[in-house]
Formats: sequence, structure tokens, C-alpha cells
Amino acid sequence: MEALKKLFSKKEKIVVGLMSGTSADGIDAALVEIKGSGLKSKIKLKAFETYSYPKGYKTFLLKNSDNSNAKLEDISRLDFLVAGFFADAAKRIVRKGGLKLSQIDIIGSHGQTIQHLPLPVKIFGEKIRSTTQIGNISAIAKLTGVTTIGDFRSGDVAVGGTGAPLVPIFDYYQFLSSKKKRALLNIGGIANITILPKNCTINQVKAFDTGPGNMIIDGLMKIFFDKPFDKNGNIAASGKIIPSLLSSLMMQPYIWLSPPKSTGRETFGEELIKTIHKAFKKELKEDIIATVTEFTALSIYLSYLEFIQPKIKLDEIIVSGGGVHNKYLMEALQRYFGKTKVKPIDGKIPADAKEAVCFAMLANELISGNPTNMPSVTGAKKRTLLGTIALP
Ligand SMILES: Nc1ncnc2c1ncn2[C@@H]1O[C@H](COP(=O)(O)OP(=O)(O)O)[C@@H](O)[C@H]1O
Ligand SMILES: [Mg+2]
Repeated sequence: MEALKKLFSKKEKIVVGLMSGTSADGIDAALVEIKGSGLKSKIKLKAFETYSYPKGYKTFLLKNSDNSNAKLEDISRLDFLVAGFFADAAKRIVRKGGLKLSQIDIIGSHGQTIQHLPLPVKIFGEKIRSTTQIGNISAIAKLTGVTTIGDFRSGDVAVGGTGAPLVPIFDYYQFLSSKKKRALLNIGGIANITILPKNCTINQVKAFDTGPGNMIIDGLMKIFFDKPFDKNGNIAASGKIIPSLLSSLMMQPYIWLSPPKSTGRETFGEELIKTIHKAFKKELKEDIIATVTEFTALSIYLSYLEFIQPKIKLDEIIVSGGGVHNKYLMEALQRYFGKTKVKPIDGKIPADAKEAVCFAMLANELISGNPTNMPSVTGAKKRTLLGTIALP
């Protein structure tokens, strides 16, 4: 407890950020040095790595994220299994950065989402939204000996928010500009966008999930080619667009829903992937991959046209997440956005590291006593502290 008291007053911290997104492709681990907090925080990335999961893990996880196949006892076990993977990732990134676990002040862990249900459903007369991340934080704290902060989404859901996206506060602190109207686009399994008007206040930030990122592409690559993703977008580049598939995908209701909104595997995961596979069986695999990749780009662009551009014309779009490596996707985005520059995030934080760094920052903000949810983004009734602290 003494250590915790000291932590509250510490101005400079060494923090590990851990993230596994909806792609469940691996654990992103970032070792960062953070000075101060809020808009004044200075973040320095000391080491980053994505650690892969054991073979078969992704399939097992997806099975247990899917209502019709999930088993309660598997989920309970997964909570601890994943905690073990995360603790190992923390140990490895600390070693890679040339430090010892005893030198780490806190770990901030997003965990692994297995259910995200942002739309309220009435049960026992109560309207309930919910979200569940596994990767038990008490277990991570015990296994590493480091104070661990996780469960960042629940606080926002409890005050009426959708619990996602959480990255916009990071974007606001790190990328607000007095010269440029910027958007930050993260293309993970799901794609989300943060809009930062010049010199905007926290209440003027808009952000939402636009729809799929790599999720549909990855799912079909697995079925057609037994590959986890379309490396550099090469398969998409070799295919042609199937107009009927593209137009049927554009009818997905989520795309046209007004923000605040967030989504996940429940909408753009296995069920949709199987439907596409079945309905377009006669088409060339390459053409299907090209079309769903095009759909990802188009759904991002149409979200901009529909919900952002009437109010703000962007100067640039800074892209992060694994999607930046998909050349076809990046070129399609630039083609749609025309004069608005679409460029990968560069400099201090590499595209793959951004979300892990974000969860290190969110942990630091909680310890600093600062709320990190954004009512303008999640629809929450008020600002609140996010995260739960687990002691070693
Ligand atoms: N070289 C690459 N070419 C094409 N796509 C890639 C490449 N590297 C990563 N990706 C895509 O990025 C995804 C992982 O992105 P990530 O940002 O980690 O998403 P999440 O946050 O959902 O885990 C992979 O599943 C894959 O679709
Ligand atoms: Mg990932």
C-alpha cells in the first residue's frame, strides 16, 4: 500500500501498456516513460513488440466470443489463460527495454474483448449495455509483481456510455494541432476515427467506430487461403470489385447509424463472414477479398461524408493499426479522400504501437486522478475515472 501511495505523487513513471484487439492477432506490448499527465503529458516509447499467441488460440477465442458456440467454463478459464499470456508479454517487453520488473511503476492492460454490447437491451425493466474484457488483472498483478490497471471500459458504460472507443482521449492529448484539422484513423479489426478540429476543447472531439477494419478481410482470408490476413493487400490488388457484393455490404445498417456508436465482432464477425462466403460462392476468391477491402475503405469514407464533412473539412488523416500495412486499403482510402492527405502515423509512435501506448497512458491518467472517458464520444452522462487497480 505504501508503494501505491508513492505512485500517486510520482511525476515520472515507467509504464507497460498491453493490448489485444478484436483481430486477436497477438499482444501488443509497449514500454513507455510518461512525464506528467493530461494535455501536458510527455510520452516516450522505449520498446515495442507484438507477441504472438500459441497456435489455435485465435480459433478457440473466436469460438468463445460467438454466442452459439461459447462455453461458460472455457470463458472462465480463458480469463486466466489470457492473463498469463499478458503477464509474459509484460515481462518480455520489460526485458527487451533493458529494465527489470521491479523498475516498472504500473501496467495498463486493455485485455481481450469477448463481448461488446453497446446497444441497450431491456432486462428486468432495466436498459442494459455491457462490455466484457478477459485477461484477469489481479492475475496479471500477481504474476508480474506490478500494480496493474485494467477494465477501462466498464466505468464509461456504468455512466451511460458505450464504453468505446477509448483511444480518442489519447489522440486529443497527443495530436491536437493549432494549425491542422486532423483525423486519427485506427484500422484494427474494427476501424475507428477521431476528429480533432483546430485547437478544439475536449467536448468538441468527435469519434466513433466507422465499421470493419481488417475483420472481414481476415475472416475470408482464413476461409479461402488459410492465412491470417492479406499480406500487404496483395490478394486484393489482384482481384476485381464485385458490384453486387459491394452494394449489399453498403446496406449494413451500422454504417448509416448516427454517432455516438461503437461496434465489434458481433456485427462484422463470423456471422457476416459466413453469409458472404455462402452467398458469393461462385465468385473468384481474389475478387471477394478485393471487394471487402474496398468496402472497408468506402465505409470509412462514407462515414466521413455523412457525419463529419458537413461540419468540418479535414486537412489530414493520420492512420494507425495493422491496416496501414495493407497497401490496397491505404491506396483506396487516398483515392476516396482525394486532396485530404491520408498518411501513416510516423515519428515517435509506430502504427502498430499506438493502442498499447494508449493503454499505458490511460493507466497513468487514472493514477493521476484524471477522468478519461469522453461523453461527446461515448454518449456517457458525465466524465468519470476509468480503470480498476489490482495490487500485486
Ligand atoms: N503486412 C500486413 N499486410 C496486411 N494487413 C496486415 C499486415 N500486418 C497486419 N495486418 C492487419 O492488421 C491486423 C492487426 O491489426 P491490429 O492493429 O493489431 O488490430 P487489433 O487492434 O484488432 O488487434 C491483422 O489482423 C491484419 O489484418
Ligand atoms: Mg492486434
